[in-house]
Amino acid sequence: MEHATKPHTTTDGIAPFAFSEDALSECRTILGRYPAEFSKSALIPILHIAQAENDGWLSVHAMNAVADLLKIQYIEVYEVATFYSMFNLHPVGKHVLEVCRTVPCMLRGSDDIIAHIGSRLGIEPGGTTPDGMFTLKAVECLGSCGTAPMLQCGAKYHEHLTIEKVDSLIEKLRGEPKRNNYTDR
Ligand code: FES
Repeated sequence: MEHATKPHTTTDGIAPFAFSEDALSECRTILGRYPAEFSKSALIPILHIAQAENDGWLSVHAMNAVADLLKIQYIEVYEVATFYSMFNLHPVGKHVLEVCRTVPCMLRGSDDIIAHIGSRLGIEPGGTTPDGMFTLKAVECLGSCGTAPMLQCGAKYHEHLTIEKVDSLIEKLRGEPKRNNYTDR
């Protein structure tokens, strides 16, 4: 990948991070929507871009690069990135299945959906399959309570879930390449 910013590196063994030219251009467009003194307002969309650029997760290097770009403290980025479940702080699989477990989804069977996915893939929530294909996450309300139970995978919502629908989704995803472009949000 061609880097547009100076890569952040340490000796911790984690890959360095730098924005590509395309990603940086998208970041600048987003930053242009805010007065310079309010660049922090662009934090969440730029974190999404950094995550997509870093194989689906935010390393410390990626978060630090975001802080530098926005000219804010590193801790201000960590505070936000560690709060929202949509940001992954560890490497994830090609497809991240985020199953809502909040009450409306729970009452419509999300526990069974999570248990089924876990047993089918041989992982617990928070885990990634050994082949790196799937990560399973149990998350809080994703704002689609009326179509419970539901899960999010990439930018897509899968709603009114049944065991059969989940099985066919897993089969379909196995055959699909990862879509990790930052526009896929
Ligand atoms: Fe599941 Fe709101 S409770 S989407």
